[in-house]
Amino acid sequence: MKKMMKKLALAVACVTTVAMLAACGGKEDEAKNNEQANVIKFGTNAEFPPFEFVAANGVIDQYDGIDMAIAKQIGDELGKTAQIENMEFDSLLLALQNGQVDAVIAGMTVDPERAEEVNFSVSYYNAKQVMIVKEDSDIAQASDMADKKIVVIQGYTGESCVKKMGYAYEAFKKGSEAIMELINGKCDVVVIDSATAKKYVGDNEGLKIVADDAAFGDEEYAIAVNKKDTELLEQINEILTKMIDDGTIQALSEKYAD
Ligand code: ARG
Repeated sequence: MKKMMKKLALAVACVTTVAMLAACGGKEDEAKNNEQANVIKFGTNAEFPPFEFVAANGVIDQYDGIDMAIAKQIGDELGKTAQIENMEFDSLLLALQNGQVDAVIAGMTVDPERAEEVNFSVSYYNAKQVMIVKEDSDIAQASDMADKKIVVIQGYTGESCVKKMGYAYEAFKKGSEAIMELINGKCDVVVIDSATAKKYVGDNEGLKIVADDAAFGDEEYAIAVNKKDTELLEQINEILTKMIDDGTIQALSEKYAD
């Protein structure tokens, strides 16, 4: 009896091991397939105009925006097909660490905490947090938010800014949801990145932007790469630097701004 149990345990252990190996092999196979298919997979969260949003005809499938055009060009220059994996902003760095994507391009601000998890490329865009309010709002500076209903987007740097200021807030998953909340009068202010704020204010009646450059720090967007992928980081840096120097990024920013 004891022997049988031992055999059974061994059998179970074997099956588990085989299953685990198969699972691991699966990931490796996927990576190999990608290599063979000459694909570079970018993770993004396409809820962030003008950097990434879903459109009828995007630059990469249905994905359009400044970042998507950058991703496309990086793919082209590497002789690879750029593919997009659209996911929640919060999941992006984990997906990168898991090898589910090769790089993350998502209007992502370089910050020390994130830089512990992943490597960042050279930065390609300067940004700042701003406040979006109703046109008749009396909010004129960040400290005016103290007794107001503040909405931020979950996991964005805007959330950490408001948290640091010590104000209570509610976090939504998408910028568009936050803006609806503001339009419907359910909150007083949305804190979000400047260029995205401009888009939302341009697309919706009755809103305005309030900036407080002293209260919100300077931010820089960069592409994130797995710490192990130093070669890819170098390649991306080279391509990005060229795109900055020859005015491509500037032209893209202007193209998608209006
Ligand atoms: N810049 C902000 C951050 O890094 C917001 C980025 C949001 N990007 C997006 N694709 N949803 O936290």
